Amino acid sequence: MKRILLAAIAALMLPLCASASAPATIRISTDETELVLQTAADGRLYQTYFGDCLKNEAEAASIAPDGSEVYMGSGFEDYFEPALGIVHNDGNRCTVLRYVSHEKKSVEGGTETVIRLRDEVYPVEVTLHYVAFSKENVIKTWSEISHHEKKAVTLFRMASAMLYFFQPKYFLTEFSGDWAEEGKMSTQQLQFGKKILDTKLGSRAAMHVSPFFELGLNAPAQETQGDVLLGTIGWTGNFRFTFEVDNVGSLRVVPAINPFASDYSLEPGQVFTTPEFIFTLSHKGSGLASRNMHDWARRYQVKDGMGSRMTLLNNWENTYFDFNEEILARCMKEAKDLGVDLFLLDDGWFGNKYPRNDDHAGLGDWEAMKSKLPNGVAGLVAKAKETGVKFGIWIEPEMVNPKSELFEKHPDWAIRLPNRQTYYYRNQLVLDMSNPKVQDYVFGILDRLMTENKGLAFFKWDCNSPITNIYSPYLKEKQGNLYINHVRGVYNVFKRVKAKYPDLPIMMCSGGGARCDYEALKYFTEFWASDDTDPVERLYIQWGFSQIFPAKVLCAHVTNWNHTATVKFRTDVASMCKLGFDIGLKEMTPDDLAYCKEAVANYKRLEPVILNGDQYRLVSPYDCNHMAVVYAAKDKVKATLFCYDIHPRFNETVLPVKLQGLDADKMYRVKEINLMPGKKSSLLQDGKVYSGDYLMKVGMDAFTTRDMNSRVIELTAE
Ligand code: DGJ
Repeated sequence: MKRILLAAIAALMLPLCASASAPATIRISTDETELVLQTAADGRLYQTYFGDCLKNEAEAASIAPDGSEVYMGSGFEDYFEPALGIVHNDGNRCTVLRYVSHEKKSVEGGTETVIRLRDEVYPVEVTLHYVAFSKENVIKTWSEISHHEKKAVTLFRMASAMLYFFQPKYFLTEFSGDWAEEGKMSTQQLQFGKKILDTKLGSRAAMHVSPFFELGLNAPAQETQGDVLLGTIGWTGNFRFTFEVDNVGSLRVVPAINPFASDYSLEPGQVFTTPEFIFTLSHKGSGLASRNMHDWARRYQVKDGMGSRMTLLNNWENTYFDFNEEILARCMKEAKDLGVDLFLLDDGWFGNKYPRNDDHAGLGDWEAMKSKLPNGVAGLVAKAKETGVKFGIWIEPEMVNPKSELFEKHPDWAIRLPNRQTYYYRNQLVLDMSNPKVQDYVFGILDRLMTENKGLAFFKWDCNSPITNIYSPYLKEKQGNLYINHVRGVYNVFKRVKAKYPDLPIMMCSGGGARCDYEALKYFTEFWASDDTDPVERLYIQWGFSQIFPAKVLCAHVTNWNHTATVKFRTDVASMCKLGFDIGLKEMTPDDLAYCKEAVANYKRLEPVILNGDQYRLVSPYDCNHMAVVYAAKDKVKATLFCYDIHPRFNETVLPVKLQGLDADKMYRVKEINLMPGKKSSLLQDGKVYSGDYLMKVGMDAFTTRDMNSRVIELTAE
């Protein structure tokens, strides 16, 4: 981008539109941050400022546009990544948008700014939406693309938004990995050119990279200081973040649906709505950015974000496919003994002609398997009621095994190539959610279970396969619409489920944490972050996901992964998020069991602090052999500190843990909880009273040099 010069040349080359005579300044502000957009003499709209709120209106309007076009079209004078690309009816691939008008309105939590842009040569319109949530300092933005050309146009770029930065250096933190190693954080400096974070997996889309990032401005993102942008896209499919540093060192960030294999055919009059891009800019590091995002998510985005959550016992890691009514009755009894709210039955309960006894058969046939469950799901719900726990069930409704009655009846409902040998991922295929009949069928699975089994209280909705064999029998010659319309079909179903069952808690799962975005979370109360429940690995995984998501939506279960760690260590790690168990109790020692019961009771008592409080990440496992996080209630009367020693070195220096988020003037009683039966706390500060000031400046000797050791400490203001 040749900044100011290019804008000037463009102004000379093109006739001025009506708005050119009266430049418009648009200020999009939260209580902390402001994005200023301004029209230039060429009638186009530019980003002129993004940073701390400006005090003076006239000064805000005085910043000259420098070529950072807010929603850059393509095929004209800019040589870098555009926001919008369209093949018009005449084959021309150039689109240039001019400002038309804008308006502001109050919405829950903030202000929405709506900006209309239009191409002056082709009947193409783009409407940009920005919702600024004042208190949480979060901005959510998306775009609507439409046209009135004679026939369908083809979209080849369709970004949600664009943001520009002009700093000496940029450092990008990505969250990438694989199955059982989700959300691994790594940071790199951005240099000239592009860094792209994207997925082409269709469904189970975030298996290799999560749809969020941190951008450190001038220095790598730090926890309590420095300028950090936290950004995420709400799209449960192929997404793409492009970070491009241009010839003058300016960085553009382009969050978008991945255009890969998605030349989208858009009919005249149809509106293409992009996913939401959600971001927050912090001048005090990523800790504050995360807390702002958590507050926003609980208040405005997540299904029942302000409500409480159920603790549960799941049977997956305990029984896998090998269970019957008697075994499940025993699990329900164990759930009751533990004191959790719910028993969750996982995979393997359905299929008769093709029984689901492993992952080769049965997906699609959602009838209870008579040989395992002669009394059906209703019998299990009744048994749970008799035992005194709630009952939840696993489904994976968007998928089909070729060995199923569904596939025999509707082979054309699966995404599958007609002219090649079929490739199976986990022996299954993805149903074609672009087909409305398939959407009806998928909605009907949950709806029928709910209707026929009164008292069913919870679902786990899984999605284990990426889209393979990419061909939709339904879309025929419009295959370019498959990836996008598939996701929209999934949302149609999610919307119907939420409309009919607004209070039903549902866990989102995708072979671990491959679905973890804020659009899906409008319809889900929580998600499964990873199949990796090794407590040491979980410290890293939960640290990573906590950058974006509040503890309330992160399901964490105590299992037998890494049973060299004590049950206490495993439970303390899971207690930092939404607590559950996925383990048989009969192998536990009486002490372990007694410990777990007490930990569940403590968790329920402290749930308002852990799930609704402010989270402060104190010591990163990425930096040392320890980890510490504290949750402080909004009124600062209670706090819960979690400390872990991972694999400390012999004789290593152990530093005190300095707390954050307390009231400096309050006096707090310190009490170590979650102790094994008969054990006394060895914490020096246990039972004593300290000011918040002391605890935040001097700290507590909460770490040790013991391998895989954990401490949970309750602080109560007196
Ligand atoms: C993958 C999930 O991540 C597991 O928790 C479990 O539900 C299995 N699918 C069941 O097939």
